[in-house]
Amino acid sequence: MTAPSAPNAPLAALPGHPHLHRLDGQLFIEGCDLNDLAARHGTPLFVYSKAAMREALAAYQRGFAGRKAQICYAMKANSSLAILQFFAQEGCGFDIVSGGELARVQAAGGDLRKVIFSGVGKTRAEMRAALEADIACFNVESEAELTVLNEVSLSLGRRARVSLRVNPNVDAQTHPYISTGLKDNKFGIAHEEALAVYQRAAALPGLQVVGIDCHIGSQITEVAPYLEAMDRVLDLVDQIEAAGIALHHIDFGGGLGIDYNGDTPPAADQLWALLLAKLDARGHGQRQLMIEPGRSLVGNAGVCLTEVLYLKTGEQKNFCIVDAAMNDLPRPAMYQAFHGIVPLKEGSQEPSNPDDLTVYDVVGPVCESGDWLGRDRALQVAPGEVLAVLSAGAYCMSMASNYNTRGRAAEVLVDGDQARLIRRRESSADQLALESLL
Ligand code: LLP
Repeated sequence: MTAPSAPNAPLAALPGHPHLHRLDGQLFIEGCDLNDLAARHGTPLFVYSKAAMREALAAYQRGFAGRKAQICYAMKANSSLAILQFFAQEGCGFDIVSGGELARVQAAGGDLRKVIFSGVGKTRAEMRAALEADIACFNVESEAELTVLNEVSLSLGRRARVSLRVNPNVDAQTHPYISTGLKDNKFGIAHEEALAVYQRAAALPGLQVVGIDCHIGSQITEVAPYLEAMDRVLDLVDQIEAAGIALHHIDFGGGLGIDYNGDTPPAADQLWALLLAKLDARGHGQRQLMIEPGRSLVGNAGVCLTEVLYLKTGEQKNFCIVDAAMNDLPRPAMYQAFHGIVPLKEGSQEPSNPDDLTVYDVVGPVCESGDWLGRDRALQVAPGEVLAVLSAGAYCMSMASNYNTRGRAAEVLVDGDQARLIRRRESSADQLALESLL
């Protein structure tokens, strides 16, 4: 995870956002002026670049050229229907973690035979829905889950294809909340127990063992934890197959990080060049592979536009109060995460006279001191101006809530000079629709 707070980087170095650029003093995403989008659709507004998603996906596709590999987009990163539709059209499958996500894949026209179902707490109803949809594979995370999945599939007269998520006990060197491959995490089956659980799975009539899976964490910026996890998984593959259980695929999960604040994760194709070299060296290069990337496909494709409501200067701190809040952008409050914040108006961040800059905490209207989007940001802004919160494509809209009865933001997908509203702003009526008085 990145440093909690640091001054904004100069505009020339918009971290990781090649599709954001200045033209005639305005900030554009691809061919669309962000000020125009804010004026047309209001704020807070998420805006995504299709070209940025396409490029992020292309890096993986280059990395896997000539290999048998299925990219299953981890849709928890951003599950908006049009985003799913884009990845489906590009040939991706999906990594889902709930019945709700399955319904989204169905609504977006995704290929159900490319869906894998992860997560430690699948319910019987979710298992049934996924079996009826004939998804590719369940990534099973415990022996207890195996037993239930076996029962549910027998009751439907089916055999569930399963892969066991093994926990390689590798430190992904990321924020504790998003590190998942260590022994004390709730995820996966311990390395030492994996063979015995595979033998049990292979003996259950409602299950068909098809693969092995691991995922060690998120926002990983180093190659070493991946290489280490791969070695551990391949040790298991060798043991499991020596015991007579064939594995059709190996799933290496997701987790590759993005540049939030000068982070330098490897590019997806560079990472996979190294991982595939190891696979080749260990004699597994021609295997069917699967991966579950989320953040690295969408994170830096999106920004969140927010209007400055009030400036409040104090003895200790100055506050820039904006109309987006922790319910729209929960990552700073939850993980002390850093997102770049850039005024749309040119010069607002690098005025000719640096004395014009004021250091603010950029905060939202929610009634919590934890409702901040950026700390100690040097800005020259006025009420009514619009700011862009960067790297907001992943784990922002999909984690948004209605806290303080705030409607969720609208979303726009940009393709060249075309901008499409892909989700309208949630109204109070939308929020009240599910409830009833006594
Ligand atoms: N596969 C599994 C089993 C996962 O649990 C996850 C993410 C992924 C794939 C995708 O990982 P990615 O490629 O996006 O790193 N809300 C947090 C991130 C939570 C990640 C949870 N699991 C954040 O905002 O940083």
